[in-house]
Amino acid sequence: MMPLLEARDLTRQFEVSQGMFKPRRTLHAVNGISLDIRKGEVLGIVGESGCGKSTLARMLLGLLPPTQGGITLDGTDIRSLGRKGMARRVQPVFQDPYSSLNPRRTIASIVAFPLEVHGIGTAAERRKRTLEILDKVGLPKRFADRYPRELSGGQRQRVAIARALIMNPEIVVCDEPTSALDVSVQSQILNLLMDLRREFGLTYVFISHNLAVVEHIATRVAVMYLGRVVELAETATLFKTPRHPYTKALLASVLTPEPGQGIPETGLGLAFPDPLNPPPGCPFHPRCPERQPQCSSLEPRLVRFDRDAVTCHLYEPGQVPAPTQ
Ligand SMILES: Nc1ncnc2c1ncn2[C@@H]1O[C@H](COP(=O)(O)OP(=O)(O)OP(=O)(O)O)[C@@H](O)[C@H]1O
Ligand SMILES: [Mg+2]
Repeated sequence: MMPLLEARDLTRQFEVSQGMFKPRRTLHAVNGISLDIRKGEVLGIVGESGCGKSTLARMLLGLLPPTQGGITLDGTDIRSLGRKGMARRVQPVFQDPYSSLNPRRTIASIVAFPLEVHGIGTAAERRKRTLEILDKVGLPKRFADRYPRELSGGQRQRVAIARALIMNPEIVVCDEPTSALDVSVQSQILNLLMDLRREFGLTYVFISHNLAVVEHIATRVAVMYLGRVVELAETATLFKTPRHPYTKALLASVLTPEPGQGIPETGLGLAFPDPLNPPPGCPFHPRCPERQPQCSSLEPRLVRFDRDAVTCHLYEPGQVPAPTQ
């Protein structure tokens, strides 16, 4: 089956200044990521804060050009689709429904805006379509002429989802879509996303630092560490038999999240990785409980297991694979 969205060697660097008299330095936010997403899949992306999830998401949306590598949609380089062409087919839902909705516009005009931009339909047709889509996301008609400030966080996120869906996109890239919401509202929004996926045949990229959410919603999971994908696997495989030592550590941390930090307490100590000073060899080696002598100098290669993959010396040919617990 041909991938719907495919990233090849996707890389994004930022030149960051470190103060007035210091030279600018290169930060590798995303470092050579290759992955593919098939129609109907939900690709979960997990990893600690700063590992490059949102940077990857913005590139997949066509909102940020990669410094290296490329993305194809149905085999077409997305650069040839342009901003508007991409926006018809790939839409975002971001974390914060408070800042992503224009406070001076009504809900109906926020949701209808993409139709206006693309010159679709008459005003009356746009209004009709807007009310239909508001209904699909569980917002009664009476919300149409209200303003974002009159809505709860969960209701605002429903508006953001309606706006994302009004163009009938194929792919929705959700970047922490429930992290800013009350726990009680989170599952309602997740269930809504799953219902909409079924109804509209959507494909999702779903970013979250919450592993329980990803296990619930994703069909495949990519685990990121310092701008790289260290493990890619079917959801059931990843949670049952994780391969990468980092994945194992993340799974072990699920029960002890650090509240409000967005960073799971991994039990890996405080040697939190600095993307300005990535360690040599395997970037995870300073924190890895299964570190081998070569890990501090030699970068591991991607080892494939069918569609799954892991980037770790333990799995390279000639190594005895570590037992998964
Ligand atoms: N515009 C930018 N300029 C400079 N550095 C940036 C820029 N955007 C992101 N970065 C850096 O790139 C790295 C990855 O950032 P990114 O936002 O992609 O991480 P993330 O995984 O989404 O984190 P979080 O879980 O906190 O949202 C970080 O070190 C960040 O500081
Ligand atoms: Mg982010």
